[in-house]
This record gives sequence, structure tokens and C-alpha cells, in this order.
Amino acid sequence: SSVRCLGTESGPEIGAEVWVRARVATVRVKGKSTFVVLRQSSLHTVQACKFKDAEDGGESATAVAKFFKSLPLESLVDLRGVLAEANVSSCTQSNVELQIKQVFCVSRAVPQLPFLMADAQRSEAEIEASQGSKRPFVRVLPDLRLDNRWLDLRVPAHNATLRIQSAICRLFRDSLTKRGFVEIHSPKLISGESEGGAEVFRVDYFGSRASLAQSPQLYKQMAISADMPGAFEIGPVFRAENSNTPRHLCEFTGLDFEMPIMWHYDEVIQVIHETLSGAFQALEEECAEELKVVRQMYPSEAPKMPSPAGPPCVVHWGEAMEMLKEAAASGSERKDLMADLSTEEERVLGSLVLEKYGSDLFFLDKYPSAVRPFYTMPSKDQPEYSNSYDVIFRGQEIGSGAQRCHDPELLEARCEELGVPTEPLQGYIDSFRHGVPPHGGVGLGLERIVQLYLGLDNIRKAVMFTRDPARLSP
Ligand code: 4AD
Repeated sequence: SSVRCLGTESGPEIGAEVWVRARVATVRVKGKSTFVVLRQSSLHTVQACKFKDAEDGGESATAVAKFFKSLPLESLVDLRGVLAEANVSSCTQSNVELQIKQVFCVSRAVPQLPFLMADAQRSEAEIEASQGSKRPFVRVLPDLRLDNRWLDLRVPAHNATLRIQSAICRLFRDSLTKRGFVEIHSPKLISGESEGGAEVFRVDYFGSRASLAQSPQLYKQMAISADMPGAFEIGPVFRAENSNTPRHLCEFTGLDFEMPIMWHYDEVIQVIHETLSGAFQALEEECAEELKVVRQMYPSEAPKMPSPAGPPCVVHWGEAMEMLKEAAASGSERKDLMADLSTEEERVLGSLVLEKYGSDLFFLDKYPSAVRPFYTMPSKDQPEYSNSYDVIFRGQEIGSGAQRCHDPELLEARCEELGVPTEPLQGYIDSFRHGVPPHGGVGLGLERIVQLYLGLDNIRKAVMFTRDPARLSP
């Protein structure tokens, strides 16, 4: 006898006696008969039942009914039973069923849960359809879910979201490792500001001022100074942005890389394209089950994008301005063609590009220099523009990147122009005085990718535990 996952292809056979550890999802007791649905690993359920007393010394049907009647939902049990065929047709319910012989409580939940799983796992359509029925599903409020996130993560779609997040990290890592890039772990306590601006968490560092890194930017560039063939990091990023929006967090996970450039920064765009499109393509296959579970609760489709083997979809700033101008012919036109895009303009541009090029994913290239950080390389012939790009996915920014200023004098001039103090950046600037190849890279927001890939309405559904201006726990 063994404790294992039921309903999987390698699982035990019909007629076998097994021990399973699982959570009690639902209980129905009718006289001496008991039907329970057990949840295993949050994606699968299996039915267990007891109708009559066993002949081989197992628990009596009455004892089993009594046990489950007094056991709160979400408790964990160890259960001994015999496997039988079950007629179920669901992607999450196992096609076997357990005939209960013996059961023990391993961990007892409190009887009053903050919300019921039966409600928390319903799609909007199911909630709507249930209104007017005898027991309509209750809409669980987002804050109540976040206050009890460990419970909310048991909702199969939410559990699957974390698994998909993990797969994206793995695919990002695999793609870059295959290219010979080195995974780095840069310091998160730093003396300067990695992105400039006011969005920095300050901390006291033995009496002197330090900040939490807004990105691994400076350090991934110094990895190139240290002759790495390419460097990448998957790590925490801190932003003291007081933005209470569905797409901003104060702490998120950055997927960053940096690489030397031989001829042109297009080489970097190509690597981002191959890595992202390749990961998205692999995800549909490798996480088919998880995607099905998420899409059942939050209906969405797989994104459209160019094949990783083909060229990336690149739209230059000038072309984007033209597209927006045409689309706004009868409405509001952009006054300043060099100002950063608003959220709404990004969304409009996303649908225009989808219409014109058939892709949900594109690079908005040649950004105006004035709206880019101090380390961005201005274009040689037109310095008011820069060798930098945003990665736009389904009408929202998921990443930004650029060729960097590797000339220390130019870098200092850029800092002065933008009012960025150079003193705390001295080590970084000096690293370029010792010889460094031209280089560039990208920073992608993991939670934004997950949110947009799965068509979730809020980034808080794409992160394990939310850190926003109003939430520091759990
Ligand atoms: O655009 P950002 O600030 O760029 C950088 O950090 C650069 N160092 C990248 C580079 O290599 N040049 O942030 C990169 C990405 C954004 O595109 C977005 O996806 C995500 O990080 N991001 C956030 N995600 C959640 N909450 C926030 N407050 C975010 N701010 C940025």
C-alpha cells in the first residue's frame, strides 16, 4: 500500500488497495452512505464512498458517516480504500473512485472557513447562471481572497497559475542557459538607484542610506564588464510606486538578461523574441492541463505571435505615431509625439498591431531618448531617439530594454541631463573605464506576463503574495 496521486497514468490499478493523503473538498452523508470528494495536489479530485460494512475488518459504514459528518471541509485525511472504476468526464476529476475502508484525520480545519471553495472556484459565468437557484454561488471579494491567500491558492485555477508562472521561469532559464548565458544573483541592497526617479524604497544600512534595487540593471551590465558571454537573473524587484492599479506591484519578479552586441542591437531583440515566443509556444504543450484549468475559470485564448523561428514583430516609434494618428482621426490626437505612451494609447496600439501584423506580441522600437532611463544609448544619427524598445503584449508593456551607454563620458552626460546623481553610481560608471563591449538587454515583469498570457483582470491573481501600497501581509 502506498500514498500516491490517483488517476494519473502511472497510478495504481483498479482493485488495488491504497493509502492516500488528501483534502476533504465536499461531503454528502445520506443515512449510512457517505460520498466525499477529495482534492489532491489542488488540480485533481477523486471521489470516495462507503455504502456498506466491509467484510475484512474495515470501519463500519456508520462510523465512516459519523467521522465525515463532524469533519470540517478542507481538513486533511489519510484514507485506506480500494480503487474502483468511476464514470466521470472532467479534466480535474479522477476516473477512479475509492471505496473507503479506513480513514484518519491528519490535520483538522476550523469549521468556519473565511469562504467556501465551492464558491471561490466558480467562473463569473457560473456565478451569474446560479443566481435565482436554491443555493446561488457567492462572489468571494478580492480582498477576502488576498487576506486568506493560502486558501485562495487551493482554488485549482489559482494553483495552476502558480505552476504556469514556474514553467515560464524554467523556460526562460532553459532558453538562455542553452545560449551559454550565466545565471547571476545581483545584490538587492544597493547604494544608488538602478532606475533613477523617486520610486525607491530607502533603508538604513548601518547609519548610511541604501535602497532596495529597482532592478538588476547596473549589476547585469557589470557582468558584461566581467566578460560573461551573457547574463540573466530571475529575482525580486522593488518599486515604491504608489500606484493602486490592476497592473502594478511594489515587489515583483524580474526576468532580466544582458548580452554583448557584435554589430547591432537587433541581436538583442532577436534573443528576446526567440526566448519569449519559444517559451509561449512550449507553455501551450507543457502546461496544457494547467492552462485548461485556468481557462475554465477565466476564459481566454492562446495568444497570436510570430513563430520563434521567424523574425520578430517590430514597430518603430514613427510608425506607431502614424498608426495612432490615423486611428484618432476623428478623436483625440497626440499633442506631443515624443511623450511616453499612456496606458490607453498602448492598448489602442496593441489592437492596431494585431490587426495589421496579426501578432499579440511586438517590440515598440526607437523610443524618444527623453523618456528613457539614464543608461539608455541614444541613436547615433538621431540622438533625440534611442536604441531602446518596449515589449508590448496584448496591448500592455511586459518588458523594456535597450542598448546601453558603454562610454563613461556619454553616461555621465546623460546622468547630468536627467538630474541623476553620479556619486552613488561611481563603481558602475568606472567599470566602463576598464573596457566593456557594446551591450544591451531587457527586463520583463514575470507577473505581467502571467497576467496577460492568462487574460487575468488583475496582476494580484498572477503573484503568490501581493505587495502593493495597501498590502504588506500575509
Ligand atoms: O520598464 P522597467 O522599469 O525597466 C527596467 O527595469 C529596466 N532595467 C529594464 C532593462 O533591461 N532596460 O521594468 C521592466 C518591466 C516592465 O516592463 C513591467 O513588465 C515590469 O517590469 N514592471 C512591473 N511589474 C509589476 N509592477 C510594477 N510596479 C512594475 N514596474 C515594472
